[in-house]
Amino acid sequence: MTSTPTTAHSVARSLEIYERARKLIPGTTQLISRRPTRGAMGVSPIYAERAKGCRIWDVDGNEYVDWMSAVGPIILGYADDVVDAAVKEQIDKGSVYSIVHENSLALAETLVRLIPSAEMVRYCKGGGEACTMAVRIARGFTGRDKVLFCGYHGWHDWYLAANLGSEGLQGHLFNGIEPIGVPRALEGTIEPFEYGDLNKLEDQLKASDGDVACIIMEPMRTEMPPEGYLEGVRELADRHGVVLIFDEVSCGWRVSLGGVQEVTGVTPDLSVFAKAISNGYPMAAVVGRGDIMATSEQMFISSAYWDDNVGIAAAIATIGELERRDAPAVFERLGSDFRARIDRAAASSGLAASCVGVDAHPGIRFDCADEEQARLVSTIFVQENARRGLILSTGFFFNCGHEDVTALDHTERVVTETFALLAEGVRRGNLADRIENQVQEESFRRLVR
Ligand SMILES: Cc1ncc(COP(=O)(O)O)c(C=O)c1O
Repeated sequence: MTSTPTTAHSVARSLEIYERARKLIPGTTQLISRRPTRGAMGVSPIYAERAKGCRIWDVDGNEYVDWMSAVGPIILGYADDVVDAAVKEQIDKGSVYSIVHENSLALAETLVRLIPSAEMVRYCKGGGEACTMAVRIARGFTGRDKVLFCGYHGWHDWYLAANLGSEGLQGHLFNGIEPIGVPRALEGTIEPFEYGDLNKLEDQLKASDGDVACIIMEPMRTEMPPEGYLEGVRELADRHGVVLIFDEVSCGWRVSLGGVQEVTGVTPDLSVFAKAISNGYPMAAVVGRGDIMATSEQMFISSAYWDDNVGIAAAIATIGELERRDAPAVFERLGSDFRARIDRAAASSGLAASCVGVDAHPGIRFDCADEEQARLVSTIFVQENARRGLILSTGFFFNCGHEDVTALDHTERVVTETFALLAEGVRRGNLADRIENQVQEESFRRLVR
């Protein structure tokens, strides 16, 4: 693989399919983060042909080292041999039946063994769906309505209601989301809280005392929680009789197989796991305290594909491999190597860039003069990386396939070149001239104008 950009890099076929897709598929993708307008239009690949390990090949025949890992689900590597063998074996035996398969119990036993909060378990297929299930259970268990949240928890009405009458999602999801189609009647049923501020959270709990069903939060994103913070949230939840839910959809599995709750020693009442639980096959789990989970038996929470055995087989195989390969140690090693390479690239180019966050799940930060410069730098970073066979932006997810020296060396070479281009653009004040097509649409771009 060469890091040199060649005039041969073309995504012509991707762009041609994209133009056709725009007429039939609103937005062209189902996950907003996969929309091509969020990459570098004209240079980033749009349509994949296949993937293996840490690599993707697009429909134009370009090969990339991919650090996005499908926006999180891929944790062992694309098309992992062990997981795929388990999945194929299950497919040969049938995917979903009129009755259930014993594997549903085997997976439950594994989750209960690994995750501190897990005494009972329910399944579904996606992260947002699992959060919705957890919130329903908490509301049903407490008989209360109100939700306090911190972080991103999917697309459902209960969550987007935070933007009815206020901009509650600001700082948690991207800004400017119009809650179109979300019933007005849900206004006031959900409120955001600020990560790290226990006093404000306590004030909010007091202001709605007796009405808060649950606190749902991402216990961390790229940084470990401040000392004592999660303990403080736990204590407040107990004092106000509120169900504490950790959404570990993004942070689960890479830092520890028992989740952030295992590392911090703070056990929530319910937890949500999805994405990386099954290395790319649809699967999610809500786990938690037996007395709370048991009440869901009385609630109408039910769907045909939640008993699907392909996702269950994939999850059992994935978790087995994560244990066998000691994945958290792999990500720790990978993270410190990756960090060193980014630091070297930044030092050699003179660009103010660094790797931030925990080793197992870091991010790249550019110190930019203003918002406008940040958007240009971010777009050029994605664009010039793509041109050189690298799918890498400032946020990314490791998978075990990244422990491949060729891929790591290629990444360092490319990032060193990209950083050098960026440093030159900053110096000359001509970053805008380097944008091939359009500036990346990012967090604060409104979906509705
Ligand atoms: C913390 C968190 N919760 C929920 C979700 C939603 O998951 P899904 O896209 O599978 O519905 C995500 C997705 O990125 C997430 O990061």
